[in-house]
Amino acid sequence: MDYSQDKIVLKAESLKIHYHTQKGYVRAVDGIDLVLKKGETIGIVGESGCGKSTFGQGILKLLPAKTKYEGKLSVGKIDIIPLNEKEMKKVRGKVVGMIFQDPMTSLNPIIKVEKLFYETLREHEPGISFDAARERAARILEKVGIEPERMREYPFQFSGGMRQRVMIALALVLNPDIVIADEPTTSLDVIVQAQILELLDELRRSYDTSVILITHDLGVVAQMADKIAVMYAGQMVEQNVKNKIYYEPKHPYTKLLLKSIPNTNPEDLQLNFIPGSPPSLLNVPERCRFASRCPFRMDICEKEPPVFGIDGGQVKCWLYR
Ligand SMILES: Nc1ncnc2c1ncn2[C@@H]1O[C@H](COP(=O)(O)OP(=O)(O)OP(=O)(O)O)[C@@H](O)[C@H]1O
Ligand SMILES: [Mg+2]
Repeated sequence: MDYSQDKIVLKAESLKIHYHTQKGYVRAVDGIDLVLKKGETIGIVGESGCGKSTFGQGILKLLPAKTKYEGKLSVGKIDIIPLNEKEMKKVRGKVVGMIFQDPMTSLNPIIKVEKLFYETLREHEPGISFDAARERAARILEKVGIEPERMREYPFQFSGGMRQRVMIALALVLNPDIVIADEPTTSLDVIVQAQILELLDELRRSYDTSVILITHDLGVVAQMADKIAVMYAGQMVEQNVKNKIYYEPKHPYTKLLLKSIPNTNPEDLQLNFIPGSPPSLLNVPERCRFASRCPFRMDICEKEPPVFGIDGGQVKCWLYR
């Protein structure tokens, strides 16, 4: 793909992804703007149910058939929303790879690892031989620290951390421009978690891959992300480079989210949490979606805030008008 213009690999503009349900549309992603550049890692953070996975899976259109997409979403020069299933198959794996939370459910446990690689490669390179696929698999497995001989085994014969390494290798074997990692380390213990993140970071550097790292864990994004986008109730409420988000957060939600990180400082052992809960995405208010929980609420918050540019980032909050 040719990114020579501005090296933008993904761009979402007023993107909406609404699930069709019996009760109406669930506005899981509701008007987000985001730009990802080549080689960059963006962390998408926010509470459970705010639409992070919907955004990630929506990029690959892995959502139920009646899901409604609006706005614009481009990956390189490909306009994603109008594509049909057959056209999406050419994008999945090849242009955008995906790493899921739980490799036990996303890797078929009764297909040998070598065959998983063969099938992934064959989808995009129909003529490839089993031996050539094994060769490619061996090279990438070595990079993720798994002995190539083990590709004769089944995923259930691997530990959780190793399965996640296999998953990463599968996501990278076609050398995609973007990898979406949705809670890639949530099911692992902290030590393996750190190793996997380190590996992912190392690989994305050597392949110059862009990464969308989805997590509710601000510690995970601290390790790896260049930029952070904070989601709340289907919208991006704040985006900026990592250090600005950590040290100079602007949006009241970002501030509270950072305070809610449990820490081991004995002086500050109370576990902070944000009182209240996000609005239902079936029926969202016209006002600022965070208003009902916001300590800085003003009269103007009855109107939905636009996105303001400040300090090199974007904040969707009236405090910065
Ligand atoms: N298939 C579906 N049909 C209808 N609503 C859905 C569907 N999948 C998810 N939702 C709803 O969409 C909203 C966003 O869900 P999503 O899974 O994207 O959140 P998330 O930020 O990834 O949460 P978590 O941190 O728990 O993984 C939630 O309100 C959820 O209930
Ligand atoms: Mg999720």
